[in-house]
Amino acid sequence: MAYTVMMVFGTRPEAIKMAPLARVLRHWPEVDLRICSTGQHREMLEQVLTAFGLKVDQDLQVMTQNQTLNGLSRDLLDKLDRAYEQVKPDIVLVHGDTTTSFIASLAAFHRHIPIGHVEAGLRTGNLQQPWPEEANRRLTGVLADLHFTPTRDSDANLIREGVPPEHVEVTGNTVIDALLWMRDKLQRDNWRPAPESPLKVLRDDQRMVLITGHRRENFGSGFERICLALAELALRYPDVQFVYPVHLNPQVQHAVYSVLSGRDNIHLVAPQDYPHFVWLMNRAHIILTDSGGVQEEAPALGKPVLVLRKVTERPAVLKGGTVKLVGTLTERIVHETSQLLDDPAAYARMARVFTPFGDGHASERIAERLTRWFADQSAARDNA
Ligand code: UD1
Ligand code: UDP
Repeated sequence: MAYTVMMVFGTRPEAIKMAPLARVLRHWPEVDLRICSTGQHREMLEQVLTAFGLKVDQDLQVMTQNQTLNGLSRDLLDKLDRAYEQVKPDIVLVHGDTTTSFIASLAAFHRHIPIGHVEAGLRTGNLQQPWPEEANRRLTGVLADLHFTPTRDSDANLIREGVPPEHVEVTGNTVIDALLWMRDKLQRDNWRPAPESPLKVLRDDQRMVLITGHRRENFGSGFERICLALAELALRYPDVQFVYPVHLNPQVQHAVYSVLSGRDNIHLVAPQDYPHFVWLMNRAHIILTDSGGVQEEAPALGKPVLVLRKVTERPAVLKGGTVKLVGTLTERIVHETSQLLDDPAAYARMARVFTPFGDGHASERIAERLTRWFADQSAARDNA
């Protein structure tokens, strides 16, 4: 018999990390896969669907400009309830720590639908950092029946919180599946940015610093300090190119464009689709980011990462010495970036390939664990 597996995602990172799992589950025995996009993101999600050739079965189109967390949650709860009513899934798969992840879990719980949580067990231990993601993943963890964790640290977090070990499976992170697939595809196709791409102006004979930033807890003074650091670095290093694909959140757009527009060696560009962004990461000398996903991808490409946060829920990355937490103080960001630009030995220590998140086969492990879960369900039904 086929089990209906309903995959729910809504933002760029969820879609990137669920895409490889969707590719596997589409052809997996016993699985009838239904993909539901909540549309928490619109343009940035569309870029991912195109890059991976993913077709969604339902699009709930919830995004509104400058949406509030409560308004978004209300719309998600209502529309997901109706989507579950229509599909009647045997299990819902959610990813990570967004509002989509938590509300999709809550709506499934209310309908007695089992939940599988991909990228489960990440914790900083601080509800304010990142905000609201730390709450979203903890709340999702409370509701989930199956927890697919990227590393042993995450596994241990869940078991410490009382999750039965047999409900937890260490699988690696599907982001590595996505990254390696895309990197190999770009290499095979000898891929270059399209002629109309703003990245065409980048010079091969200059070093490039890649930046991303969008965390809500950095809004206001945090973003201001980060942007001032970038402005100072750009002045100090006129022969270094700074590339910042600016997230579409209006709060981020305003903070970044108001401080950093009109500088020769700072390239503020639109969010890049995954092929362009992987190309940028590969091409970068250093990456500055507050992103979760980029912290996982960059070490796999051997790129030093300075994380614009005080804490990380991914302690595994710190062990390799290729990722450093630098916070959001202007002086510290300028100092740490300058050191990497000026000191070849310091740079060499951080520019190493480090892969704590698995071998690129996390999706198959998740599918295999699901198969065992289906068998348990079937045995339980037979015994009832
Ligand atoms: C969301 C997630 C965050 C995740 C991030 C990934 C929550 C609360 N936040 O943050 O965990 O790290 O996505 O990028 O779930 N917008 C567009 N087009 C898009 C995407 C966003 O215009 O394609 C604008 C809209 O005005 C929207 C706003 O950005 O209202 C905020 O989007 P939202 O998903 O609420 O928050 P993010 O900051 O993107
Ligand atoms: N990313 C992308 N284009 C960009 C910036 C990031 O495709 O312009 C990818 C990046 O490779 C990673 C994911 O988006 O896989 C991270 O998303 P984001 O930083 O928005 O969210 P987070 O990971 O912090 O939740």
